Amino acid sequence: AALAQVATPLGPQLNIAHRGASAYAPEHTFYAYDLAMEMDVDMLECDLFLTRDEVPVCIHDTTVDRTSDGSGTVESFTLAELRELDFGGWFDPAFSGAQIVPFEEQLDCYLRHNGRMRFHVETKDSAGGRAEEVLVEVLRRKGLLDTGDLHTSTILMQSFDAASLERIKALAPSLPTAFLFAVPTSGPALLWYLTGSGADYIDAMAPNMAVLQLDPLVVQRFHAAGHDVHVWTVNDRETMDSALEMGVDGVFTNNPDVLRAAIDER
Ligand code: G3P
Ligand code: CA
Repeated sequence: AALAQVATPLGPQLNIAHRGASAYAPEHTFYAYDLAMEMDVDMLECDLFLTRDEVPVCIHDTTVDRTSDGSGTVESFTLAELRELDFGGWFDPAFSGAQIVPFEEQLDCYLRHNGRMRFHVETKDSAGGRAEEVLVEVLRRKGLLDTGDLHTSTILMQSFDAASLERIKALAPSLPTAFLFAVPTSGPALLWYLTGSGADYIDAMAPNMAVLQLDPLVVQRFHAAGHDVHVWTVNDRETMDSALEMGVDGVFTNNPDVLRAAIDER
């Protein structure tokens, strides 16, 4: 009964555009981000890698092979070289010529959308700690180490790598963090499961939807410990309804229009 009482979300349930509206346009391009804005999202998700000249760019994979007409690791290209590649044609010829998006350009384009857009930013590869240093420097320069509060901060950091979140908190204690996990056996998630407490550099938990389907009490469990829950990646209406009903605080989706309806019709 005590757990059932905390099944409600801790704030408004967030519509988080996963790589943009990536069901409809090539992920991590301005096409996908623009569409997400039209679909009235609350947050834009970004996966980050550093280029060879240490510029953070929005791309999900270690290599450019799947999402461009080039080949090789992101870190082997300079930004100028990446700008030569086509990041749209693989998805549909109608998007041919779409360019890589540097993280700072993503921020500059959408920061002031609808007053203020928010960003869910994932460190994909620490590059020996450089990724966190470069990222925090960019955010500090742009004045985006702002509220320090998970529910209002412009930037929310996320990672599967607990050590990356620990480095981020050490560099910028005001940046809220979310720990990504697919099975509840990885470090901090397991600690929370076993003891109800975890690492002090993690603010929110971000499980895969399969974790919630295996354990219907997982949201209440983390809420009881004071942690928001952002679930990934949910693309169909039925599963969205189920996640929202469980009281999640945010949903990553490739289909933000479907999620918008699911949230609004509750
Ligand atoms: O960041 C949430 C979700 O995107 C994690 O998985 O592989 O799509 O980055 P992935
Ligand atoms: Ca991600």
